[in-house]
Amino acid sequence: MNNTPTPHELRAGLVKQLRDQNAIRTDRIADVIGSVPREVFAPEASPADAYDPNRAVVTKRDPHGLAISSVSAANIQAVMLEQGDPRPGETVLEIGSGGMNAAYLAELVAPGGTVTTLDIDPEVTDRARRLLADTGYAGVHVVTADAEYGAPDRAPYDLIEVTVGAPDIPPAWLDQLAPGGRIVVPLRLRGLMRSFLLVREGDHLVSHGYELCGFVPMQGAGEQREHLVLLHETPNEEVGLRLDDGDQVDIEALRGALASPRQEAWSGVTVGGEEPTHDLDLWLATAFDGHARLTATVAARDAGIVASASPLGVATLVVGGTFAYRTVRAVDDSRTRFELGAYGHGPAASAAASKLVDEIRTWDRKHRRGPGARIEIHPAATPDSRLPAGRVVDKTHSRISISWPGQQP
Ligand SMILES: C[S@@+](CC[C@H](N)C(=O)[O-])C[C@H]1O[C@@H](n2cnc3c(N)ncnc32)[C@H](O)[C@@H]1O
Repeated sequence: MNNTPTPHELRAGLVKQLRDQNAIRTDRIADVIGSVPREVFAPEASPADAYDPNRAVVTKRDPHGLAISSVSAANIQAVMLEQGDPRPGETVLEIGSGGMNAAYLAELVAPGGTVTTLDIDPEVTDRARRLLADTGYAGVHVVTADAEYGAPDRAPYDLIEVTVGAPDIPPAWLDQLAPGGRIVVPLRLRGLMRSFLLVREGDHLVSHGYELCGFVPMQGAGEQREHLVLLHETPNEEVGLRLDDGDQVDIEALRGALASPRQEAWSGVTVGGEEPTHDLDLWLATAFDGHARLTATVAARDAGIVASASPLGVATLVVGGTFAYRTVRAVDDSRTRFELGAYGHGPAASAAASKLVDEIRTWDRKHRRGPGARIEIHPAATPDSRLPAGRVVDKTHSRISISWPGQQP
């Protein structure tokens, strides 16, 4: 007897898993993900991998092995479709083309809607065009272009869905968006990426929620990579700081700091082992002037150089030649609850660790059960007086204000 599941069974299984993960929230998205043949849009993968809800199928890497094109994991495709909520008759632009997500969009805007998908890479657009034609979605317009300039020919768009990590919002996206139109975009902000739903209000965009995500980086005119500075390096052991938004640090002083004994501070705030702390990370990223992410290899952690081995990095406060990073310690023998704290290194290690812990307590008191951050994205020339209160992150094209409304008493 052949136990290999049919594509139909794989699709039904995927929809169930995505509902269980709360990635699918509405029947419309369930119906579409339950009907488009993923296995045809990801011929590079086995059917089981194509229908793995959490697995992206990498279709292209750069000479260093970094993934630069993929068919995104079904989980994040579903989440972003829920965020953007494409409606019948709408005009949609997808930035970053794999074919699969464009097919989902085409189903959702039918009847009467149009989908344009653009990619900077002609190999990617050739592949997408072929797969879309093979599966009956030849009506999707496939354009080879740099996202920095959008796709003016079919503008204005009701929805722009960006499926590549964006360091900024280019002016073309706002110009090509209809009044009240939406952008769903994986935006990198202070080293963290979140998929924001942004709604156009006149000359600016206002967030209406965000979700955790990870995406390949933007190429072309808008490319702005994070940079990594190494504080410690042997063949196996590596400790570094990831910096974003052009931030600079005193590398020599911080190398010396890492070599000095650490100081610790504990918050009294505990979290369950499975409890997400993404919003705490976003809070810490916006709370400090000097924010970085400490990354380390497992060997560096095992050698006791730092207490964390996160490849994406943990929230770190940098003040001159001192830094302090977020850590946890188990509060019970079964290791199900953890207290949040900080380790500091450098001349002001205790003060930096205490400051980080103070912000953990503020998050716990005021924001832990709140609605999260709200961002507004204004053109780069906007004066301070026109920005809402809160931290402002200046990018090349935009000024992004981040505030935390709905504070708990
Ligand atoms: C994650 S893939 C897109 C996935 C796709 N939407 C799907 O169906 O799952 C991201 C794509 O963005 C493209 N990309 C990167 N920088 C770009 C730019 N400046 N303009 C247009 N496309 C870009 C890459 O070539 C890559 O194919």
